[in-house]
Amino acid sequence: LVRWLADARHHTPVLELGGSRHVFRAEDVRTVLADSALFSSDRTRMMPPTAQLGRGNLTMMDPPDHTRMRRIVNQAFTPASVSGLVPAIDEIAEELVGSLAGDRFDLVHDLAYPLPIRVICRYLGLPEDQIDHFRTWSIGFSRGDAGQMDAMHRYLAEVARLKRARPGRDLMSRLATAEVDGAPATIDEIASLTGLILLAGHVTTTSLIAAAVHQLCVQPVADARVREHDRVDDLVLEALRVRPAFAQVTRIAAEDVTLSGTTVPAGAPVSAWILSANHDPELNPDPEPFLLDRPARRHLSFGHGVHYCLGGPLAQFEATAAVRAVIRRFARLAVLAPVEFHPLPTLAIRRLELQGRSRA
Ligand code: HEM
Repeated sequence: LVRWLADARHHTPVLELGGSRHVFRAEDVRTVLADSALFSSDRTRMMPPTAQLGRGNLTMMDPPDHTRMRRIVNQAFTPASVSGLVPAIDEIAEELVGSLAGDRFDLVHDLAYPLPIRVICRYLGLPEDQIDHFRTWSIGFSRGDAGQMDAMHRYLAEVARLKRARPGRDLMSRLATAEVDGAPATIDEIASLTGLILLAGHVTTTSLIAAAVHQLCVQPVADARVREHDRVDDLVLEALRVRPAFAQVTRIAAEDVTLSGTTVPAGAPVSAWILSANHDPELNPDPEPFLLDRPARRHLSFGHGVHYCLGGPLAQFEATAAVRAVIRRFARLAVLAPVEFHPLPTLAIRRLELQGRSRA
């Protein structure tokens, strides 16, 4: 895919495919993401009409509605509240790695999936014993299943009502009580926001953890340097660049607009290829190798512009904790079976079977 994208950047930087325009060059991807007036995020008409969770979704709003909701979230989802989670993140990562039954394990099933979902539940103040439900709903959401999306919305709206009446110290209580210009968000808005944070906050991070640990297995030189020189942060950042969880994000052209010499007509869906931008030599010279020492590493993996990801630092804390827990437990790691990916547009890794050699 990466080779195909390099070819596309060169020969067909704006490609029409199935009614959508696919945009591959870093400069164009950045333009699409930066200009929310020209490239709308309102994709609700592409969703099932009954799905409430889809309708109030922050990622599908444009300013000024988006600005108002983002101000509500920014009051609650603060850097201090994220840093405050670090001890819990470390503790859950240690517990999950400590409870591996043997030296053979599926990294996704045993660590990369449960860690972020437990962390996000704790942060939001949702019961961790409902995780199986959240998982079913998330799968339903990613398949556009309106029934599952509505079930999740109803549940979260109920919890939001309770938290508004008797707020605690968790994120959902803070969302339920935050105000912009003297007005709080509606219960439906809080349920949608929470649903989005729950969904956006786990599968993406699962993929980042899996990508980082996978690299340790396939690149022994990096493995040695990460272990001996404590380069876990660089490992995670480079994994984020090379394998962004969202390969692309979609916008709708609000009017006719020209990108790399090609006119995109008003109303056309535009897929902005983050994966391609991260591998564009204009953004990162010599983009292909996975380099811990990449000078001035640049990526669009968390997006760009008004929808810039809310949870980047949280995802990085989690991935770092997961990698550290794994390398503390195992002296060496090998991949046992081919890695399984989710289909596009996400590149989430859904199965990564490993064989570890425990420390003596
Ligand atoms: C937005 C990627 C982790 C919450 C985004 C966007 C990207 C992204 C590309 C922009 C989407 C767009 O422009 O349409 C990632 C990646 C992650 C990650 C690669 C992990 C490696 C998280 C976490 C959370 C989170 C942990 C929350 C706990 C959000 C939210 C938005 C968002 C709420 C919407 C912001 C808005 O529309 O204003 N993320 N994300 N993400 N992300 Fe993340």
